[in-house]
Amino acid sequence: MILSIESSCDDSAIAITDIKTKKLLFHKKISQELEHSVYGGVVPELAARLHAEALPKILAECEPYFKDLKAVAVTSTPGLAVTLVEGVTMAKAVSVALSIPLIGVNHLVGHIYSLFIDKPTHFPMTVLLVSGGHTQVMEVKSLEHIETVAKSMDDSFGESFDKVAKMMGLGYPGGPLIEVLAKDGDRKKYNFTIPLSQSPLIAFSYSGLKNAVRLAIQKASEEDYKDIAASFEHIATAHLTQKLKKYFKNISPKTFAIVGGASANLYLRSRIEELLKPHGADLLLSELKYCSDNAAMIGRVAVEMYEKKLFTSLDDLDISPKSSI
Ligand code: KG4
Ligand code: ZN
Repeated sequence: MILSIESSCDDSAIAITDIKTKKLLFHKKISQELEHSVYGGVVPELAARLHAEALPKILAECEPYFKDLKAVAVTSTPGLAVTLVEGVTMAKAVSVALSIPLIGVNHLVGHIYSLFIDKPTHFPMTVLLVSGGHTQVMEVKSLEHIETVAKSMDDSFGESFDKVAKMMGLGYPGGPLIEVLAKDGDRKKYNFTIPLSQSPLIAFSYSGLKNAVRLAIQKASEEDYKDIAASFEHIATAHLTQKLKKYFKNISPKTFAIVGGASANLYLRSRIEELLKPHGADLLLSELKYCSDNAAMIGRVAVEMYEKKLFTSLDDLDISPKSSI
């Protein structure tokens, strides 16, 4: 079995995965959403302190599995420096105490493998990752062959929901709050411009849309918020589908997946389903509980890395807050 740890942002999570069957045997996550909600976003130092409290509690519950552990895996990149350190320090301690190898996992690869928790892998595919930290399209052929073909030039899709929610004083995380508010709103009421619609680039940008929404909020009253939320969600999603449509002109996908925290958004899911219809492509989605950050996805990558003996020595495993794929 492999013990995996996730602490790249505001979720403290540990999982145990069976190497042979790839089955998830244990998973526990302690989220910090309530604590960060009053600030309208994640406060890194507060997150680190909460990880230091939560991770040892979850690890204690894993003790019955200790004798069966063959490796310990941890998210080492990308993420918040002060929170990544919490997980990596714990993983190193477990590695030394139990004399088992260490596996450093890329969080973004983890999101891709959230599709395969309790399942075999399925490649090749085109993947849209939409999270709080990233918005990118990847061509995935295998664990070692992941190519990013488009990404955001500034804010991410999820982050723009968080910022709009903060401007409306709704709390954090903003994605689910905006989605609920948007359900009763008029998507056509505010005519925000689709970002980069005149540009031939296949890339994403959310900072301009965020500022347009800020101006609309400044002029509006609270009764208008649902229409602003609906119009914003509509344009934020239209930006993704417009760029994907352009991309699909050259590469028609057979299998397409949406992963990351914001892949839970039902409006986004329905728009992408529409877009895929003419291509006859399959749409893969993670189970809702594994869309947002978790340790089960890190464990699922780690099983694959264990089989390929992709270990990192104690001295070499370091955090890398900014790296990506
Ligand atoms: O993958 P994740 O848990 O953490 C990162 O790796 O960043 O994603 C969290 C992000 C947050 O920005 C959150 O607002 C967004 O995903 N999110 C959503 C929804 N649920 C979560 N965005 C839009 N609609 C949602 N339903
Ligand atoms: Zn994530």
